[in-house]
Amino acid sequence: MVRTPESSTEGGRYDIVIIGGGPGGYATALYGAAAGLSIAMVEKEKVGGTCLHRGCIPAKEFLETASVCRSVAGAKEFGINAGQPTVDFSVSLDRKGKVVDQLFRGLAGLLKRRTVTTVPGIGELQADHSVKVTAADGTVSTLRGDRIVLASGSVPRLIPGFEVDGARVLTSDEVLDLDSIPSSVAVIGGGAIGCEFASMMSDLGAQVTLLEALPGILPGCDKEIAEVVVRSFTKRGIVVKTGVAVKGHDPRDRGTTVLYGEDERVEVDVVIVSVGRRPLSEGLLADGTGVELDERGFVRVDEFMRTTSPDVFAVGDLVATPQLAHVGFAEGILVIKQILGEAAIPIDYGRVPWCIYCHPEVAFVGMTEEAARADGYDVVVQRDPYGGNGRARIIGETEGLVKVIAERGPDGRAGRLLGVHMVGPWVTEQLGQAYLSVNWEATPDEVSQFIQPHPSLSETFGETVLALTGRGLHVG
Ligand code: NAI
Repeated sequence: MVRTPESSTEGGRYDIVIIGGGPGGYATALYGAAAGLSIAMVEKEKVGGTCLHRGCIPAKEFLETASVCRSVAGAKEFGINAGQPTVDFSVSLDRKGKVVDQLFRGLAGLLKRRTVTTVPGIGELQADHSVKVTAADGTVSTLRGDRIVLASGSVPRLIPGFEVDGARVLTSDEVLDLDSIPSSVAVIGGGAIGCEFASMMSDLGAQVTLLEALPGILPGCDKEIAEVVVRSFTKRGIVVKTGVAVKGHDPRDRGTTVLYGEDERVEVDVVIVSVGRRPLSEGLLADGTGVELDERGFVRVDEFMRTTSPDVFAVGDLVATPQLAHVGFAEGILVIKQILGEAAIPIDYGRVPWCIYCHPEVAFVGMTEEAARADGYDVVVQRDPYGGNGRARIIGETEGLVKVIAERGPDGRAGRLLGVHMVGPWVTEQLGQAYLSVNWEATPDEVSQFIQPHPSLSETFGETVLALTGRGLHVG
């Protein structure tokens, strides 16, 4: 089964050929190569994909700039007189470039050490399941693999009437290359990307208007948690408009006027369109591959990431599962385990970790209260605000809460944990134990046996779960 490629560069035969070198593709490559499989990975740009070059990493680096700015602005509360901070965003842009470059070089080195053959060019699956690679100079080569993994990712979805020009209308791709902060911004779409950009831009001094078509921001998030984010945004001067249709915009010499809702308008320097991402499946499949796409262009897969064609798998943003880098990693691992003939457990997409890095941060796993009730669960809900947490008081970030949803057991007490929803300081770093608890289907009696360090922000999760046993220390 495991064999050495006939050629160490292009044109060889491999155990696996992967199209796309983002988190889905490179996780498949690294995990497979660690098990001794021979792997070629075709990448048209740089390995690392959207996450490393135009997504998670650069966005969080900019959000960290915003966080440092907030800390300096609030330093006088601690007796530190640093004055009012000013932002030289070009420095942050440079820093972002360095962080991305270091991670890119680390990843490229790791792939090389694992003897993954990275083939530069655009890959297209052929009817005979070979992969045609067209390099930037037009040269064409063919790779063959016993198995193929499609991992070509996604691109920002656009809306009619908002042509991306890189000056007035931007998507996340362009925002992450800005070298200065515009003075006013309209963000269209209040999902994870929209909220992260709205938060970052506002903290760095822009006047932000967030326009969301649905009645609430952060779809999929527990309503109470999303409301905390809206309150914080509003307090910081972000104008949040929900339930509004965006109609178009009238460009001016500098900036543009965005038209929305019932004849409402807002004049801004820049519009950021963040209305979701669509799969990058065009040009990926020649005729006759047998790989089917759904009506939105996602590659159809079963719970084992198998496409409709034998020995062809698809992972990451290209399939209609949560568009998260860590989900792409998990899907890649699942594929490799199957190829190795090991026990492979399908991913429970209803219980993957979600982390949104706006301020305040949001992190959750499992069902929202609304979804649990809609599914017919009798639930017990417990909340604990960060205001009572010692560490939160110390760091001066008391906004937010932990909300735990448990299924009511036959004895009327809180049983299996169904969902944990957090909003507040560093919650993205606190989700781990909630993730394990929900996925282990643990009960409050079981989880509350474990000790939380004091003082720590994670005590708020511990306190909430302890209160669900019927007796809390500080809560309930
Ligand atoms: P999204 O699908 O999460 O949110 C898009 C929002 O735009 C929705 O609330 C939708 O109702 C709204 N919308 C759509 N059309 C609209 C219109 N014409 N006018 C106003 N609002 C409109 O997509 P987003 O935020 O672009 O993110 C794309 C993907 O990347 C998502 O799956 C997201 O979860 C993932 N992502 C996750 C991050 C994280 O977990 N920290 C960070 C960035 C992205």
